[in-house]
Amino acid sequence: MKNKKILLFTLLLLSCNTLFSQSSGKTLKDALKGKFYIGTALNLGQISGKDVADIDVIKQNFNAIVAENCMKSMYLQPKEGEFDFADADKFVTFGEQNGMWITGHCLIWHSQLPRWFFIDENGNNVSPETLKARMKSHISTVVGQYKGRIKGWDVVNEAIMEDGSYRKSKFYEILGEEFIPLAFQYAQEADPNVELYYNDYNEWYPGKRATVVRLIKTLKERGIRIDAIGMQGHVGMDGPSMEEYEQTILDYTRAGVKVMVTEFDLSILPAPRQGVGADISTNFAYQKELNPYTEGVPDSASTAWTNRMSDFFKLFLKYPGKVSRVTMWGVTDGGSWKNGFPVRGRTDYPLLFDRKYQAKPVVAEIIRLAEKK
Ligand code: XIL
Repeated sequence: MKNKKILLFTLLLLSCNTLFSQSSGKTLKDALKGKFYIGTALNLGQISGKDVADIDVIKQNFNAIVAENCMKSMYLQPKEGEFDFADADKFVTFGEQNGMWITGHCLIWHSQLPRWFFIDENGNNVSPETLKARMKSHISTVVGQYKGRIKGWDVVNEAIMEDGSYRKSKFYEILGEEFIPLAFQYAQEADPNVELYYNDYNEWYPGKRATVVRLIKTLKERGIRIDAIGMQGHVGMDGPSMEEYEQTILDYTRAGVKVMVTEFDLSILPAPRQGVGADISTNFAYQKELNPYTEGVPDSASTAWTNRMSDFFKLFLKYPGKVSRVTMWGVTDGGSWKNGFPVRGRTDYPLLFDRKYQAKPVVAEIIRLAEKK
């Protein structure tokens, strides 16, 4: 009898784990209220309502959302002039029904965009004027569709390299650096009240950071609004250092914008190369040594991961108001894109909730840190 009671009590405790992650009984979003929004990216299973267990975790713990894929240009405008807002509409409705801060991701990006964007009927690059017109039409239609409903847009994504040079994308090839101010201007015209962000990865590299700061200044000098820099934050166990990350936050806030941590995940797996970043075209061949935790994570590695994740949140909590949102790139480890990037077929553990929808120990730690502040 006594054993049965203990068992029942244990089960009850376990089932409360995703909801009340520690003794205060607060969930992640309640504990972080007044500090920053805590968000997650939503995939199609969640947007469609199919992944019920994920949706529970999302509603209980997060108060901000971003679309993981369905607002990228290849999905929104697969053919010139033919827009498909079906999934994006559902995503925005989900956010509204749950009172969440909704971010649009992303308007201008060299990846996951349809090929027609740059080419004419003969397959040659379009002229600068045509590309400008296509950018303007895409941005004003998409931003216009969600005017007053989406709170902020990643206007340009990943345009600057680690050494501070501009990525040699088609946008750059055809329009030069000017494509960035133009994109911000078009977005501002389409919804004068929506927040506008530049979003990138590996921003702790001094060269990249310096160019981003220069970009903020240029936009401001020209009277074009930029509200925040998105720091994606796809990080690993080997870098960046907390000092590098903090310095980047400080450099950006000193330049007069907010910082949003927009795509956070902390891979526990060995990196195939240092500073890989998050360009989705990167791919390294699978090797067994790069995938050591298929059967679970040993305590030592798990403790190191927990400590590093909580160090990041300690840092974010040091700058409330300046760091205005922290968005995880996914809900549970099982749904993370890191299982397939930058090496396909690995088992990674980069998020706050495990494969069984349970809050990891770090969640209780983040809540404790938030309440201490
Ligand atoms: C990733 C998604 O998570 C994947 O599902 C998709 O296959 C590729 O794109 N930087 C970004 C995100 O800005 O949009 C990317 O998302 C990850 C890197």
